[in-house]
Amino acid sequence: MAKTRTALLPVFFAVGLIAWNVASQPVPPSSPAVPATPVTPAPDSSAPAAPAYPANDPPPLWAFAMDPPETAHFQKSADDDVPKSVPNSTVQLSRKQAFNLFDAPDWHPDSHPPAPDIVMHGRRPRPAACAFCHFAHGMGIPEGATLAGLSENYILEQINAYRSGARGTVRPDMIAFRGMVGVAKALTDEEAKAAASYYASLKGRPWIKVVETKTVPKTIVKAYTLVRDPAGGTEPIGNRIIEMPLDENLFDLRDDGSGFIAYVPVGSIKRGRALVTTGGKGKTIPCAACHGSDLRGMGDVPAIAGRGPSNLTRQLYNIQYGARNGTQVDLMKPVVAKLTPEDRVAIVAYVSSLKP
Ligand code: HEC
Ligand code: HEC
Repeated sequence: MAKTRTALLPVFFAVGLIAWNVASQPVPPSSPAVPATPVTPAPDSSAPAAPAYPANDPPPLWAFAMDPPETAHFQKSADDDVPKSVPNSTVQLSRKQAFNLFDAPDWHPDSHPPAPDIVMHGRRPRPAACAFCHFAHGMGIPEGATLAGLSENYILEQINAYRSGARGTVRPDMIAFRGMVGVAKALTDEEAKAAASYYASLKGRPWIKVVETKTVPKTIVKAYTLVRDPAGGTEPIGNRIIEMPLDENLFDLRDDGSGFIAYVPVGSIKRGRALVTTGGKGKTIPCAACHGSDLRGMGDVPAIAGRGPSNLTRQLYNIQYGARNGTQVDLMKPVVAKLTPEDRVAIVAYVSSLKP
């Protein structure tokens, strides 16, 4: 590993660990669903500076969710030692045990093949266990990504792209993103291969329920995830996708048996289907040409069907505005060049509603 890379690691992990260690913070009652934080470059500039985007298409903050600026760090519930259980599982874990970055909770051991040590336990002091953020079944969480259904080569390429900085983000201040870069840099090539080969062996499974609606629950961001505002209420969905845990309490225990619901605007799935299948009269290029007829991947071109809408949105946006680059990514540039925020929401609504 190059010297320059290693030198940055302590900074990464200092930031990461502070974030993970913070005890529970009260949620400010009036927190906006999506904080209006200006996009600022990371203070340690370990990630490349955010590239420019036009004023009429700012980063969709519901997809790049970060905890409110009042606290500006990961807010998790308080740890405790009380044994808890989740549906369809005989495992008992306390919150403290479930929230261990180096011993990922395995509530449903029968739901996945035996996973390599690096996936379930990581290696102290870094990298953390893949399964903590991506689950052992690889379906993942909104701040992260679905890994099931991707090819081994693609996964390894992405790890290299995080290492080199070719895969960046328009929100380099997003600690979740920096966490993944830190993991990529700390992995040995052998560990990366073991993890990539494991996740590539998994098939996608239904995990996100996509529902068209006019109104959505008011949300706040907690632990980088949109959750119901404790003050209650609803609001118009607007041009947004609101991806939330189906059950916040189970999500809080990192239950890998309870998935997500994604609210999308009325009519968006049909509009998205038209863009995805026909290209919308030159607006974009039909996705099946490269992502396979069922959009579940072709060769090393990744699966996109049924994957998390927040992450799909972040990736389309990052590619459109030059934060994610590379020879393979160049194939995607003409696909996204002309997309409006409404096109992106429609495309993602449709794609994430498909069978993974
Ligand atoms: C601390 C949480 C965390 C851990 C641990 C973690 N990841 Fe990630 N991972 C993320 C986040 C967050 C993203 C999304 C980053 C982005 O927006 O590009 C991600 C994205 C990825 C992607 C990109 C998928 C895509 O959409 O193209 C791959 C591949 C990946 N992770 C592999 C791994 C592997 C392999 C491990 C274990 C060795 C691992 N990750 C451990 C948080 C984590
Ligand atoms: C000309 C080929 C081509 C077409 C057409 C194409 N893609 Fe892609 N797409 C790719 C390649 C190649 C990658 C992987 C880039 C990389 O290796 O980083 C990709 C990556 C992506 C990603 C990032 C996935 C991830 O795991 O992070 C998304 C999202 C995506 N494409 C969506 C679409 C959608 C939606 C369409 C249709 C509207 C589409 N693509 C059409 C070639 C294509």
